[in-house]
Amino acid sequence: MSEKKYDIGLMGLAVMGQNLVLNMVDHGFDVAVFNRTTSKVDDFLATDEAKSKGDKLTGAHSLAELVSKLKSPRKIMLMIQSKDAVPAPEIALYPNNAAVDAVIQDLLPLLDKGDIIIDGGNTQFKDTERRTKFLADKGIRFIGTGVSGGEEGARKGPSMMPGGDPEAWEYVKPIFQAISAKVGPNHDVPCAEWVGNRGAGHYVKMVHNGIEYGDMELICEAYWLLKKALGFTNEELYEVFRDWNKGELDSYLIEITRDIFTVKDPETKKHLVDLILDTAGAKGTGKWMSQLALDLGVPSTLVTEAVYARCISAMKEQRIHASKILTGPSGTYKGDRKEFVDQVRQALYASKICSYAQGYVQIMAAAKEYDWSLKYGQIAMLWRGGCIIRAVFLERIKEAFDENPNLENLLLAPYFKSEVEKSQSAWRNVVKTAVELGIPVPGFSTALTYFDSYRSENLPANLLQAQRDYFGAHTYKRVDKPGEGPFHTDWINVREVEK
Ligand code: 6PG
Repeated sequence: MSEKKYDIGLMGLAVMGQNLVLNMVDHGFDVAVFNRTTSKVDDFLATDEAKSKGDKLTGAHSLAELVSKLKSPRKIMLMIQSKDAVPAPEIALYPNNAAVDAVIQDLLPLLDKGDIIIDGGNTQFKDTERRTKFLADKGIRFIGTGVSGGEEGARKGPSMMPGGDPEAWEYVKPIFQAISAKVGPNHDVPCAEWVGNRGAGHYVKMVHNGIEYGDMELICEAYWLLKKALGFTNEELYEVFRDWNKGELDSYLIEITRDIFTVKDPETKKHLVDLILDTAGAKGTGKWMSQLALDLGVPSTLVTEAVYARCISAMKEQRIHASKILTGPSGTYKGDRKEFVDQVRQALYASKICSYAQGYVQIMAAAKEYDWSLKYGQIAMLWRGGCIIRAVFLERIKEAFDENPNLENLLLAPYFKSEVEKSQSAWRNVVKTAVELGIPVPGFSTALTYFDSYRSENLPANLLQAQRDYFGAHTYKRVDKPGEGPFHTDWINVREVEK
């Protein structure tokens, strides 16, 4: 009898990889697994859950063995953490993601034309652009897919954002759509659809992460305002986030924030959140989005302020030192507490709208720059379930793009326009109060500044152009002479200053 062949192979048995495998098997697919540290293969297969899968799950102790176990065209999914970076010959190395290049190098001699390599890591999209082209030249199809939702998502239903070689999608689609989260009125719409060519999927995943950074920063600012300006206890904070999660802020991140305020440290019996050191970590995807926004010249200010907020939080020693030297306002809010809580809710929602507006502006600019054809409403539905930013709010974004597929900014969509305009007096009072009390709100304030800048027909860049032309002859255009110019003025010789 010929040896059994498996539907898909997965390499990389960290938590995400293991949970994706179990999810695939639970949905009827036969899976073969491999890990560079082969003891991890044995350890995983020895778990009760893996053993319960019977012959639907098998292990390999080399890439060659993994490849030999797979049905054609072979599908091999890589869930490799970039910390395993291994130098790879030939393929141009991307310093923080050489591990995938190395595995591709090792796989190439083992594969046949038409086989499919899938990278499910948080990969820089430029790597995926490069790898898709490199492998296409060798007849190998490549998919770079975002996988969002952490270990719970991987096990029960992630959001998946595949891009790469479109020819590969038909072979991978049944697996991805079976294992993904399901949304819609009948809970049968998979959060797994083709995003676009080459690096488009990883770019959209990166923007998902950048929006995640922004959402988390805004929630933390709301928390800090309620705690510092109103002196709320963790019990009161639990009630606020519990109530907010019943309205338009209904989302995974609000839900977990609500839960966090209930958890006590078993040792001290104190609330665990109060025992956690206030220095943020980051694996880097938010930074990538901010860097790439600068490359595109699009103002993704929320994710950037969120990254900087993490950076300054990590400067703990300096902040302790500075806190003993620098003084500023403190105190608590003297107005109506109940009203202020609702104003913070409104500020959070309005700022969230700006954050997603910025994220979409960046995705649209990237699509134009990198020649991707993207479906913006569909992206919102990919994010509707399974991923970290999953929220009811995403249905409003889908509706906005359904109503106007050429929407250039979410802020201009009737629903969002109305929501921000009715929230803005509360939003402004929250930012003003934070400034008066010396409570840092980089997210709320940059979102408000973005809103005020974007809705301004005129900004003070006329003076900036005069300055640039004065010292650098960088020239300027004139409002009264459209289409003419550029112009230059010999400012130093025509200025009328007191001698
Ligand atoms: C997801 C998450 C995940 C991300 C972690 C850590 O979509 O499941 O976004 O991809 O890596 O949240 O991110 P940071 O360490 O950068 O906060």
